[in-house]
Amino acid sequence: FAAVDVIRAKRDGLRLTAEQIEWVVDAYTRGVVAEEQMAALAMAVYLRGMDAGETARWTGAMIDSGERLSLHVSRPTVDKHSTGGVGDKITLPLAPLVATCGVAVPQMSGRGLGHTGGTLDKLESIPGWRAQLSPEEIGRQLEDVGAVVCAATPTLAPADRKLYALRDVTATVESVPLIASSIMSKKIAEGAGGLVLDVKVGSGAFMKSLDQARELARALVGIGSAHGVATTALLTDMSTPLGSAVGNAIEVAEAVDVLRGGGPPDVVELTLALAREMLAIAGRADIDPEPVLASGAAYETWCRMIRAQDGDPDAPLPRPAHVHVVPAPESGVLTRLDAYAVGVAAWRLGAGRARKEDPVQAAAGVRCLAKPGERVERGAPLLELHTDTPDAVPYALDALAGSYAVADPGNDDAPAGGEGI
Ligand code: URA
Repeated sequence: FAAVDVIRAKRDGLRLTAEQIEWVVDAYTRGVVAEEQMAALAMAVYLRGMDAGETARWTGAMIDSGERLSLHVSRPTVDKHSTGGVGDKITLPLAPLVATCGVAVPQMSGRGLGHTGGTLDKLESIPGWRAQLSPEEIGRQLEDVGAVVCAATPTLAPADRKLYALRDVTATVESVPLIASSIMSKKIAEGAGGLVLDVKVGSGAFMKSLDQARELARALVGIGSAHGVATTALLTDMSTPLGSAVGNAIEVAEAVDVLRGGGPPDVVELTLALAREMLAIAGRADIDPEPVLASGAAYETWCRMIRAQDGDPDAPLPRPAHVHVVPAPESGVLTRLDAYAVGVAAWRLGAGRARKEDPVQAAAGVRCLAKPGERVERGAPLLELHTDTPDAVPYALDALAGSYAVADPGNDDAPAGGEGI
């Protein structure tokens, strides 16, 4: 094969053959196909698309670029993947909950980039906690505790790591076949028997519209089926942050509240919905996770899961050096609190990173003191901005400008909030 022929075929709208796909992904991973050639091919795929068969092959080639983990665990294994959101700490209560119900959860997670948080960044706010585990440690912890949340091992879909970095700088991230194959190559290589996808929809998500999210969900489920991994997807709202905490340590604290039988109702509801899907995929639809969560038994599993990775679940979490309070501009009902704006604000406060190698602040983030639909009083705290670098506060306030609205139920032209701050 020659790379130009593969690029030309896709440029002209042809379907790539299995042999072309396998060759080009492998040759790119080995450095035989040059970055500029893969960039051109990624753009051709972005513009021309790939059908379900091509996408499944592409995913298979990315899995084959590395090792597929074989998990020797006596229980069924199921993983969850979220396409990313704001305040999405669901993995933290979900993994120990499902493990407590008897199904093992091997979950390799990522770090945040941009306005969406990363599960590893959140967990690293726990003193001592370690993200990097060897395949042997993963296997042992799965058997002993039933849940592992850790960093991807370096041999997992290396083609994706290379291609994702290239897509990031060539405006080719937002392609359904490329996103779907990227996500699924890592998840299938991880070796879980089943997979539940939480496909986010709304301003804080990759997919802003329901149609786009549905298309991505179908592509993801199609790839799972083609590779023999039982896969289901839920489409869930990401127009406003999940729960009230957005950041790192602040989200861990909220997850612990949920594990102790409290926490915000939307976080509890989504945790239970995803737990039910995971149990069903593992053939344990007979187990109701709700009483298990309420009993505090999943909190015990959480503590064991954190300790197994050298973290101290009883240690106090880092607290911010500075808290800036944003008051409600009017009395009335909060009608909107935009997920994307809150995510960008948390990011600017230090919870996220601008470049892959940047550190994050454990204590930075945003606490939302009201959810859309709730009543607020003029001047009462609406948002708390947490940071160790108070110089960042004006930038966070800029991100929040116009991002929330309070309506007086008796006044049809209530002003949008966020101006003048
Ligand atoms: N997440 C991934 O892992 N890959 C993508 O392409 C997009 C989101």
